[in-house]
Amino acid sequence: MPSIGLAVIGAGYWGPNLVRTAIATPALQLEWLCDLDEDRARAVLGRYTTVKATASYERVLADPAVAAVAIATPAATHFDLVREALEAGKHVLVEKPLTSTVSDGAKLIGLAERSGLVLMCDHTYCYTPAVQRIREFIRSGEIGELQFIDSVRINLGLVRPDADVLWDLAPHDLSILDFVLPEGVTPVAVAAHTSDPIGYGRACLAHLSVWLSNGALAHAHVNWLSPTKIRTTVFGGSRRTIVWDDMNPAARLMLHDRGVDRIPADSLAPDDRRQALISYRIGDIQVPALPEREALRSVLAEFAGAITEHRSPLTDGRAGIRVLELLQAASRSAEDGGIRIPVSMEEGK
Ligand SMILES: NC(=O)c1ccc[n+]([C@@H]2O[C@H](COP(=O)([O-])OP(=O)(O)OC[C@H]3O[C@@H](n4cnc5c(N)ncnc54)[C@H](O)[C@@H]3O)[C@@H](O)[C@H]2O)c1
Repeated sequence: MPSIGLAVIGAGYWGPNLVRTAIATPALQLEWLCDLDEDRARAVLGRYTTVKATASYERVLADPAVAAVAIATPAATHFDLVREALEAGKHVLVEKPLTSTVSDGAKLIGLAERSGLVLMCDHTYCYTPAVQRIREFIRSGEIGELQFIDSVRINLGLVRPDADVLWDLAPHDLSILDFVLPEGVTPVAVAAHTSDPIGYGRACLAHLSVWLSNGALAHAHVNWLSPTKIRTTVFGGSRRTIVWDDMNPAARLMLHDRGVDRIPADSLAPDDRRQALISYRIGDIQVPALPEREALRSVLAEFAGAITEHRSPLTDGRAGIRVLELLQAASRSAEDGGIRIPVSMEEGK
């Protein structure tokens, strides 16, 4: 099968990962690396390469050998770059967040659909073996009814000039949430509290709550200022609880048969009712084996698969929009002192 000609746009922090992975993806043929700073693009490619470097996006889009672009530029540039690529008839993989507003994202989805082109969001975590297994555990009913999600994503992060910590880090948690939620369960409201203790002018840490239609509460704590790096999420279920510690490769996932049950009052003898109506389950902990597979390889394989099979990718533009809806509501909440903002969203996949 002929490979798909690809151009990567953006040679900053993330773009080189797309370059390295695209070169290792047989279904793709990397043709260009484009950056406003052409020297940077050249330096990323090194001397021994047939991939061309350029600062001209127009040149890339005019090249008939390019069937698809992968865009890793700052979020504020996504709308224009994606629109121009779609108008030039190219399939697009764009980094998170899809755009800066829901309405811009919706315009891009309409354009891609009318043109019969693939528009995919790089929600990288959804392609990790850990998150794929978590999704199976939740959607198969293995953990019972989803009761809560608690995430901590903190470290001494890149303090970005163009985004606050919500728009930089929370897309990871929100895209994971969107991906793993059981069928029929959707976010119904959002609240966010943010803080800028260093006087940077943008939120550097945030606490984000998302209420779900089944009564569960999801919470994410994102922070650029923590000296320790923590990447842990707990998915609590009525039967089992998943603990995902992404910093622990030996046991990234642990499935706890432990939890708290409420005993129905009418099942107790009258004398026992005075005692707590709560019982603690102390069961086994399993550590599921996970393949070691780089998520970005799966992202690019999915992008290529969606193009050749003329289908929607797993994390399509609509997944990007659902994340934007939550981010926008979170920003509004934070500006308004952390009030609860209702959201009404279509169901995920
Ligand atoms: N999927 C992930 O896990 C992940 C991780 C980090 C960053 N990202 C995303 O990747 C994107 C880029 O982030 P980054 O950290 O690499 O940013 P960065 O600032 O390090 O690099 C951006 C690059 O884009 C170039 N650029 C800007 N406008 C351009 C244009 N119009 N045409 C060509 N080049 C242009 C800049 O010169 C710069 O080299 C962001 O959307 C970010 O959210 C995703």
